[in-house]
Amino acid sequence: MKTKILLLLTAAFALFSSCIKDKTEETVKNYTEEEMAILSKTLNLPVTVDDYALQIPTYLGGGTVFADNKQATLGRVLFFDKKLSANESVSCASCHKPEAAFSDDVALSEGFEGKLTERNTLALGAFPSFNAYYGFAGGSRLFWDERAANVMEQSEQTLKNPIEMGMDLSTLYDKLMQYDYYQVLFEKAFPYEFGYQRPEDKILIALQAFVNSIGIFRSDFDKQWEREGDFKRPFSNFTDQENMGKDLFMANCASCHNLDRATATLVNVANNGLDMEYSDLGVGGLSNNQSEKGLFKVPMLRNVALTAPYMHDGRFQTLEEVVEHYSTGIKKYPTLHENLKSANGQPKNLNLSQEEKDALVAFLKTLTDKEGVMQKRYSDPFKS
Ligand code: HEC
Ligand code: HEC
Repeated sequence: MKTKILLLLTAAFALFSSCIKDKTEETVKNYTEEEMAILSKTLNLPVTVDDYALQIPTYLGGGTVFADNKQATLGRVLFFDKKLSANESVSCASCHKPEAAFSDDVALSEGFEGKLTERNTLALGAFPSFNAYYGFAGGSRLFWDERAANVMEQSEQTLKNPIEMGMDLSTLYDKLMQYDYYQVLFEKAFPYEFGYQRPEDKILIALQAFVNSIGIFRSDFDKQWEREGDFKRPFSNFTDQENMGKDLFMANCASCHNLDRATATLVNVANNGLDMEYSDLGVGGLSNNQSEKGLFKVPMLRNVALTAPYMHDGRFQTLEEVVEHYSTGIKKYPTLHENLKSANGQPKNLNLSQEEKDALVAFLKTLTDKEGVMQKRYSDPFKS
């Protein structure tokens, strides 16, 4: 309870202080001609800094999620820059590809020396607001086993990770500052020198500002919901099949994978019955706590049709395979979540008909908002 209140206060303060900041920033929203001359040699960036604030639609709770636009702009450049890995071979975007809703199209991704990651790359374009979900809603943490509290922690781990980017963080800032465009971007994003324990914190803060700015809520499902005002009614512009899939989803899946709030989840982590034995123990692998073995993050599902393969190890290639899992494949495991158990404690396989399976898949496809992830302000800014 205490932490909840604290979180709310921090959120309120963040909103308040970013309002003030926005006012003073109003006057310095543009890059000067000199700055543009430097930036435009290497980067495609607009003279007026992109606006990264998200207006959350009222059906998802409403409100504005503010962003520091200059930090997010720097974060965008960093996100697409291969100089962030030890041998300059991979960027964040190598694994988090915009067209795949910022996930990867392989089960395990290749790190800077070609070695494979231990888990499937999580999609960053699966949330109505990444920031609202992780930033101030409380409860949820990052990575499949929730080992990071925020994007700064996550990015520090990823940059240093010997498989992923292999970077010595203490030298990265100096390395980047050898480039004139980074001198401009860092100066703009961090006009004051106080408040940073280490220079590299600025890199992490900027990456966080960018990732936190990602928000997806213009899928067909969202558009219909906004029109109809209530997602529990059949949608008039959905096919019968999609409406049938929507009902099946609301009855069997939404208790864990909620779609109806920008800022909170119902179940953070769960065991969804993939295996009888787990080589990767997820949350329990960290805590060594018996009751947490086999628990993994419940992924958000906006854009799920773009993020194959699926699950923490990328075992399923298609949505059909995922649906088959919930229909007939749920395994008995000590931590199997209650929502997937019958009254007698046994796995609750849904035993769906072919028509129902097709309907569920058709519904999952209505969650796609490809334009959302392909927006210019989220795209690769480097001139090739
Ligand atoms: C080599 C591939 C690779 C690279 C490079 C990479 N990531 Fe990831 N990313 C992953 C994988 C794999 C996971 C899931 C790992 C896990 O949960 O153990 C992940 C998870 C994340 C998450 C957690 C999302 C969530 O919902 O919990 C964020 C945020 C993230 N990455 C951002 C970044 C940023 C920012 C960079 C660049 C500094 C980056 N990644 C570079 C593969 C990569
Ligand atoms: C008990 C909570 C729970 C319920 C109910 C549930 N899921 Fe899941 N789902 C999870 C968890 C946890 C994962 C990740 C498991 C892992 O990778 O180890 C997951 C993963 C997924 C994924 C893969 C997402 C990705 O990005 O890899 C899809 C798709 C999915 N579920 C769809 C569904 C559908 C459709 C239903 C209803 C038929 C459903 N889920 C019911 C908890 C649940």
